[in-house]
Amino acid sequence: MSVIGVGEVEAADGTLTIKPGDVLTPLARDRANERGLTIVVAGSPSPGGTGSSGRGTPPSTEQSPVNLSDPAHPRSVDASTVNALYRRGTPVSPSLQSRPRTRTPDGTPRAAVIGAGHVGSIATVRLAESDLFEEVILIDLVEGLAAGIALDLWHDASIAGFATRIVGSEEMSALSGVDYVIVTAGKPRTPGMTRTDLTAANAAVVGPVCEQIARHAPDCVIVVVTNPLEEMTHLAQIRSGFPAERVLGMAGVLDSARFCSLVGLSGVALPSEVEAFALGSHGPEMVVPLSQARVKGRPLTDLMPADQLAAIVERTRDSGAEVVSLLKTGSAYFAPGHCAALMVTAMASRSGQVLACAVDPKGSYGIRDTRVGVPVRLGPSGLESVVELALQPGELTALRESADRLRERIHEVA
Ligand code: LAC
Repeated sequence: MSVIGVGEVEAADGTLTIKPGDVLTPLARDRANERGLTIVVAGSPSPGGTGSSGRGTPPSTEQSPVNLSDPAHPRSVDASTVNALYRRGTPVSPSLQSRPRTRTPDGTPRAAVIGAGHVGSIATVRLAESDLFEEVILIDLVEGLAAGIALDLWHDASIAGFATRIVGSEEMSALSGVDYVIVTAGKPRTPGMTRTDLTAANAAVVGPVCEQIARHAPDCVIVVVTNPLEEMTHLAQIRSGFPAERVLGMAGVLDSARFCSLVGLSGVALPSEVEAFALGSHGPEMVVPLSQARVKGRPLTDLMPADQLAAIVERTRDSGAEVVSLLKTGSAYFAPGHCAALMVTAMASRSGQVLACAVDPKGSYGIRDTRVGVPVRLGPSGLESVVELALQPGELTALRESADRLRERIHEVA
């Protein structure tokens, strides 16, 4: 790693070529901007063209405009903050008016989070830390809340090592042109409540929010977190008018994570070694197909007795309520916020990871016209395909029954 100063910039002619990991001093970066130099990382791939969607198109050429902080995610962005050593006067929360409101020319995506509560704040941190985005916009109607959280998070950028700008706003117009929106707005459960007890209150929030999203970011993908999850996801699609592929519900990722982590508590494997899906509903009709659960390629059912596994499935199903009963004043947020961000980073990075999400399976598993958790592949523009696992007959029946219950509930809301 070398520090590139003004001297190197002055000596460059048209292009400043640096090595991966090199750091430009702020003065050198400013001078490079003034001189109109193109900065490229030798040997690193380019950010690629915008393609049809323009979202995170994979690299294709030998050299590229630089994201100095992470050569794995090269991009060309506003040079004022990217991987610059700290500079007095660098804008920490630049005014929305002074920045572009559409996708950046190199296709680096922008994301937004609606609702600056705990889930929204954690999702924002995770998105920023991924450093995949030009900026993350946190929106909340409460005066100063989103801006305060955004500024606080930005103060962490120099330690955490991300360059994604974080902006807080009270205006839905701040969404303009973003690629991904996570909807967390609405009320959380309190002890004794079921998720469906929130239907009326949260529909009154999610419906208008999604109309505004469609107005300001008509090409985005919406990830819904607000409960009751499947009902709100369906409502979001109707009120946004988006195709079903661009409105996804976050629940299966969380329930799958909870199952894997709870298996980890038993000591048979580390949480990250467990591969399993929680499908069906984000509630009583959750289905964990144990036939598909693996630890380092071995069936989980070979490693744990059936009654112990059944107890973990039960605890997974009730995990949201378990946290609510402990917190007493709200619901879980660390894992839910991370899981929502994971869906967005999977899309933006084209990770190809198979994630359980609430979608309309459109005939897969023999299920259609509903919203239900199934394993899917996400692409930069939302749902790409439903992954059909070889479920046992009993598991498939349970998944279809779950889908039937959800169909009744989502149509009541609509
Ligand atoms: C939970 C909420 C996110 O399960 O539904 O914690």
